[in-house]
Amino acid sequence: MNPENRPIRSIFTVMSTAIRTLEKEGRLTMEKSYIQHGSTSVYEHSVKVAYTSLYFARRFRLNIDEKSLIRGALLHDYFLYDWHEKDKSHRLHGFYHPSTALRNAKEDFDLNPIEENMIARHMFPLTPIPPRYKEAWILCLADKYCATIETLFPLLMWKVLRARMIKALFLS
Ligand SMILES: [Fe+2]
Ligand SMILES: [Fe+2]
Repeated sequence: MNPENRPIRSIFTVMSTAIRTLEKEGRLTMEKSYIQHGSTSVYEHSVKVAYTSLYFARRFRLNIDEKSLIRGALLHDYFLYDWHEKDKSHRLHGFYHPSTALRNAKEDFDLNPIEENMIARHMFPLTPIPPRYKEAWILCLADKYCATIETLFPLLMWKVLRARMIKALFLS
């Protein structure tokens, strides 16, 4: 195997294990029913953000807790409603959805302090309290990066991910 492809292959292995666990033990699959940005579902957005977070961490050789990084990123938008629907409880979604996501995630999973902080602080600086852990800062950046691409260049994001997946799975 080309050593260049090894990290990408292992990102997909680590990610799919975490996704399967969160789907089995919680309500992650519900996110497939809700749209996040453009035509991207909350589920797809969360997977892309988790992938991007891990990719950034490995690319820059950051010393982090990878398992927490992936779980926190996959659960960061675990608010489980369609924020486009007009409803009193969806008002100021940008400000309040991190606390809703955290409440839902705590109902379904045992979260550690890193994962909790990642979910609670991912909207910084819109919400004023900054993240506390490196993992939460990485998520904060990866979330904004993915949201921008999903909104402005939705096909580009998919093409980049698909190309990396094909390279990692079939060309290594
Ligand atoms: Fe969010
Ligand atoms: Fe997000």
